[in-house]
Amino acid sequence: MTAHAYLSNLFSLDGRVALVTGGSSGIGRAIAGALARAGASTVVVARREAELAATVDELAADGCRAAWVSGDLSTRDGVRAAAEAAAEVYGEPDILVNSAGINLRPPMGRVGEDVWDATMAVNLEAPFLLGERFGPGMAERGYGRIIHVTSQQAHRAFVQSGAYGVSKGGLESLARSQAEAWSAHGVTCNTLVPGFVLTPLNARLQDDAETVAALAARTMVGRNGLAEDFAGAAVFLASPSAGYVTGHSLFVDGGLSVH
Ligand SMILES: NC(=O)c1ccc[n+]([C@@H]2O[C@H](COP(=O)([O-])OP(=O)(O)OC[C@H]3O[C@@H](n4cnc5c(N)ncnc54)[C@H](OP(=O)(O)O)[C@@H]3O)[C@@H](O)[C@H]2O)c1
Repeated sequence: MTAHAYLSNLFSLDGRVALVTGGSSGIGRAIAGALARAGASTVVVARREAELAATVDELAADGCRAAWVSGDLSTRDGVRAAAEAAAEVYGEPDILVNSAGINLRPPMGRVGEDVWDATMAVNLEAPFLLGERFGPGMAERGYGRIIHVTSQQAHRAFVQSGAYGVSKGGLESLARSQAEAWSAHGVTCNTLVPGFVLTPLNARLQDDAETVAALAARTMVGRNGLAEDFAGAAVFLASPSAGYVTGHSLFVDGGLSVH
């Protein structure tokens, strides 16, 4: 067997369908690109059409099968509509990645109900609803991969975790509940845990060179994360070779969490 054939058996996503929320920017965009380049027919979901189209154009130019659906995951109806539209493109997904997320950052004591509701809706409720929509079908078909993008703040509080940290802690628990429900049917459910990653999400923080350097110094690798750092980890968790990895939190953080 050639090395290429061996690696294909382990990691190829040929013939699989992936849905990536937040797939038009940052970490989600890198993950969508990785899954598509590994062979999955990939649908990216977010709100802004120009970013979605640019993502899909780039993948199509690379010979990938990719499409986009514009949808707002901050309401239940929005999630339902986006899920149905996404499933229409290439059929029911085998791989679901929840990367769409918001971080509004007010500290505890100043978290208004509007911030709480918006944070929970996008960061926790949308992944829950999408799991309920697609998880049972994956289990019935005997193969599925659910991957949530959480945060250091799911595990410990720092830099004003507020409602965001609560939503990400819930997302870690959601992955475990889903893993318990569906792992015996070939559906693994895991999380990717970023450190500080240079993406549009924290553009405001990136203006503060001192904070950026201090965060890099807290890692073991000695730099902050890049969206591309998630490509290999996402392909691994989505692949056939990760069938015995479930209910797990994979820290892609340069060692930040253990330093
Ligand atoms: N960057 C970091 O340092 C870091 C650290 C820890 C965890 N994370 C997590 O990683 C994930 C990705 O973050 P990122 O840094 O890649 O952020 P990003 O570049 O801001 O991307 C966020 C994505 O989510 C989409 N989105 C946001 N609200 C949405 C809504 N209501 N409906 C549909 N789509 C929505 C955005 O598209 P539209 O705005 O067009 O809708 C965009 O595609 C998030 O869950 C975040 O919490 C990031």
